[in-house]
Amino acid sequence: MAGKKVIITGVPGVGKTSVIDGTIQKLQDEGVLYQNINFGTFMFEVAQKDGIVSDRDQMRTLAKDTQKRLQKLASQAIAKIDGNVIIDTHASVKTATGFLAGLPEWVIRELMPDIIVLVETDADQILKRRFSDLSRTRDIEGFRDIDAHQQFNRSVAAAYAMVSGCTVQYIANADFLLEQAVLQLSSILR
Ligand code: AP5
Repeated sequence: MAGKKVIITGVPGVGKTSVIDGTIQKLQDEGVLYQNINFGTFMFEVAQKDGIVSDRDQMRTLAKDTQKRLQKLASQAIAKIDGNVIIDTHASVKTATGFLAGLPEWVIRELMPDIIVLVETDADQILKRRFSDLSRTRDIEGFRDIDAHQQFNRSVAAAYAMVSGCTVQYIANADFLLEQAVLQLSSILR
């Protein structure tokens, strides 16, 4: 059964997982069902089996070609999933040698999304959330670096729209306004 494919992205710590979880619950209460697929988890399971990482935050430090191989395997597996799907992933990943496209041509052509959503907020809020999330090994960066990453994500999302014909939406997830972000995403997905 063909469904809607929606890709949700955002820099680490912006709160995309919180927005997705709230939205899936809200839509489920209304009888609209979406599966939540985490792209990083698909990559991590292969990387862990290969014995090259022990936690998910190590993946962005792997060699570029290794990350590309994992991306390809993840996109091929996710493309086979039917029904309405939310794919929680990254428009780009910050590596030691620069931004790596999260959805390069061979990934976007597998997934062929209907919509790409960018979850964003101010850099100071993102940095504060990274500091307070002790469950993860977060990159601690300056405000300008976080702003540059969010800016790059907007640019690269435009390129993904050119390849796939999808639309691109921006959602703000400001401090203590998670509910507003959930309402906005719900109305896009409904
Ligand atoms: P992934 O697990 O997706 O990493 P991530 O971006 O760090 O995602 P998180 O879910 O941990 O953070 P989040 O931004 O969703 O924030 P959260 O909701 O937790 O990916 C792991 C790895 O996989 C990547 O690093 C990469 O290596 C790899 N990967 C994935 N896709 C890839 C691709 N396409 N290509 C290559 N590699 C890829 O919230 C954070 C905190 O903020 C929480 O404490 C929360 O309570 C708080 N918070 C959230 N919203 C608010 C609010 N409105 N107000 C106040 N606090 C808030």
